[in-house]
Amino acid sequence: MESAGGEARPVMLPPVQELAGQLGAADDVPARYIARTGAGNDDRKATVTAPVPTIDLARLCQPGGDGEASEAPAGALADTLQSWGLFLVTNHGMEASLMDAMMDASREFFRQPLQEKQKHSNMIDGKHFQLEGYRNDWVPSEKQVLHWTDLWPTCLRDVLNDFTTKCTRVKDCLLPEMAKLLELDDDYFIDQFGGKADAYARFSYYPPCTRPDLALGLKPHSDCSFVTLLMVDNSVGGLQVLQDGVWYDVPTRPHTLLINLGDQIEIMSNGIFKGPVHRVVTNAEKERLSVALFYSIDPEREIWPADKLIDENHPALYKKVKIKEYIAGLYEHVARGEMVIETAKI
Ligand code: OGA
Ligand code: NI
Repeated sequence: MESAGGEARPVMLPPVQELAGQLGAADDVPARYIARTGAGNDDRKATVTAPVPTIDLARLCQPGGDGEASEAPAGALADTLQSWGLFLVTNHGMEASLMDAMMDASREFFRQPLQEKQKHSNMIDGKHFQLEGYRNDWVPSEKQVLHWTDLWPTCLRDVLNDFTTKCTRVKDCLLPEMAKLLELDDDYFIDQFGGKADAYARFSYYPPCTRPDLALGLKPHSDCSFVTLLMVDNSVGGLQVLQDGVWYDVPTRPHTLLINLGDQIEIMSNGIFKGPVHRVVTNAEKERLSVALFYSIDPEREIWPADKLIDENHPALYKKVKIKEYIAGLYEHVARGEMVIETAKI
């Protein structure tokens, strides 16, 4: 994706990992990390795990290919794309050893001394933000509430290459299935992606937090991608999804991938498919890691609800948006605690 640097003066912040290391168990988090109201919370506590399905990708993409007479799981896919916008996949073609290697590499990186990590800084000359690199998200405002997380750079290229190749296969298998469910041409989304389609990897490290009731690992947002593939920590949860005003825990299952729809497909499907609002809560005891791969349509293109989905009874609910401009608006909106998707709605 394009650098989101812009002209605003970037704000240099200590890595959250260092900050967490300096805080005693009874210490408060600094005021700038307070994203929640604390005791008696600002939202109802998620006690329920979202009933998102686990889909067998081999069966979905090659019905009958495994010789079994069972039906392809397209029905479960259709249901979840229209409600949760999230699902887990098994049989995704990625070896468990590769997934473990990714997590190990990431963990190892974050364990290094700060000085080593700084060599991969995402601030060029300490001044200009680029998407690639170690440390915080871009912080355009001096006042915005901050995330309790650090990001990893794309410096361990070999393992990442393997991982992204396999993820791209998963994405390529899902696009025609999603088009079919909308009764669009199988190639509709593949064609829309264009030659310069982008993938952006984000490695997050969430240190333990003394005040999980106050800080959030990631504030509520929807992804501005077309679709996001997520590999989350096998043992430490924290990802939650919003449905009808209630936060639900997103289930984890070892060696599955989580597929999360983004705003781009919500727009192109005219809202039939949902890009879910999600967030990451922190916890006092354990660190948490995640790797997200965001697939996005060519930044130079414009997208709009598919013509075939629009008629008198189904008016377009979203405007035409240029991908580049849409993505550029992300950090400003996050800073203000707003959703970029609102700017696309009619
Ligand atoms: C993201 C995201 C979830 C996680 O990076 O957009 O939602 O579990 N990450 O880290
Ligand atoms: Ni996200």
